[in-house]
Amino acid sequence: MAETLMHALQCDSYGGGAAALKHVEVPIPTPNKDEMLLKLDAISLNPVDWKIQEGVLRPFLPRKFPCIPASDVAGEVVKVGPGVTNFKAGDKVVATLHHFTGGGLAEYAVAKENLTVARSPEVSAAEGAGLPVAGLTAHQALTQAAGVKLDGSGQQVNLLITAASGGVGQYAVQLAKLGNAHVTATCGARNLDLVKSLGADEVIDYKTPDGAALKSPSGRKYDAVIHCATGFPWSTFKPNLSTNGKVFDITPTPSVFMTYALQKLTFSKKQLVPLLMTPKKQKLDFLLNFVKEGKIKAVIDSIHPLSKAEEAWAKSIDGHAIGKIIVEP
Ligand SMILES: NC(=O)c1ccc[n+]([C@@H]2O[C@H](COP(=O)([O-])OP(=O)(O)OC[C@H]3O[C@@H](n4cnc5c(N)ncnc54)[C@H](OP(=O)(O)O)[C@@H]3O)[C@@H](O)[C@H]2O)c1
Repeated sequence: MAETLMHALQCDSYGGGAAALKHVEVPIPTPNKDEMLLKLDAISLNPVDWKIQEGVLRPFLPRKFPCIPASDVAGEVVKVGPGVTNFKAGDKVVATLHHFTGGGLAEYAVAKENLTVARSPEVSAAEGAGLPVAGLTAHQALTQAAGVKLDGSGQQVNLLITAASGGVGQYAVQLAKLGNAHVTATCGARNLDLVKSLGADEVIDYKTPDGAALKSPSGRKYDAVIHCATGFPWSTFKPNLSTNGKVFDITPTPSVFMTYALQKLTFSKKQLVPLLMTPKKQKLDFLLNFVKEGKIKAVIDSIHPLSKAEEAWAKSIDGHAIGKIIVEP
C-alpha cells in the first residue's frame, strides 16, 4: 500500500451541522493489535452520528476533536494487527466502529476484530454497511426486550413499531414478521405501501388523528411497542397497551428514565422502558446471514459519494430518510 494519506470528513468542534464537516487529507490510520485496517466500500449514517456532533453525548463523545464521525462500514481488509486471527488481507467485511473512535467517513478506517464480521458476495457493501446500528437495535428491541422468537416458535404478540420507514423501523418490521408477531406500524402517507410490503399487518399514517393517538385500526392492544419515533408522551401509549404492555423507547430522554424508575418502584405492569443498543458480533453475523438468505432486505434511501458526504449528513439531520443513507468513498 503506497499511499499514506486518505480523504476524510472531520468535525473540529460541537455543532454546525453539515456545513461544519470539513474535507481533509489525513494519515491513513494504523491498526493496533486487535484491529484491522479496512479500505471502505460503503458507510452508513445513523442519527447518533450527527447527535454526537450536536453534543448530545457531551462530554463523553466525541472523545477529542478533530474527529472523523460515523461507525457503520463495509470494506476490504488491507492490513491486520498482530492479534487478529480470523481475518486476512483481501477479506470483505462489515464492521461497526466504536463510537469512542468513530472514523467511518473516510477512505480507510480501523475496526476491532470483535466487532467485525465477514460479508459474503450475496450482500452488497451498501446492504452490509446499513445493518450494524439499525439492524442490531431492531434485533435487540424485538428479541431481548420484547421477547419475540425470530423462528416464530413463540406466542404471537401484538406489536406497534413507530417510524417504521426509518433505518431501525424497516428492520424491526421485517424481523417481527419472521417472529410471527402481529405488526401495527406508523409512517408517513408516502411510505404506507413500502411498510406494508415489508410485512406490516396494518399501517397508520402518523399525521392522521388515529396515527397521532397510535390506535390500532383493528382495535388491538399492544403487548410491546418498538418506539423508533420521538415526541409521544406516556399518556398516549398507556391506553393502547395490553395489561403487561411495554414501550421500548430507543430515543430515551431523561424523563423516560424517570418514568421507568417510578414505574419500577410502583410495580406498574405497563412500562416505558429505555433501550440502548449494545453491539454484538454474533448478532451482526446472524443478521447478515438473514440478508444473504433474503429473509430481510435493506431499504436504501440514497447513496452519496464521499466528496458530497455533507449532503448525506444534512439528509440524516432532516429526519425523513426512507431506510438507510449510504456514503461511498
Ligand atoms: N437506543 C439506541 O441504541 C438507538 C439505536 C439506533 C437509533 N436510535 C435512535 O432511534 C431513532 C430512529 O433511528 P432511525 O435510524 O430509524 O432514524 P431515521 O432513519 O432518521 O428515521 C427517519 C424516518 O422516521 C419517520 N418518522 C419521523 N417521525 C415520525 C413519526 N412521528 N411517526 C412515524 N414515522 C416518523 C420519517 O418518516 P417521514 O419522512 O414520513 O416523516 C422517516 O422515514 C433516532 O432518534 C435514533 O437516534 C437509538
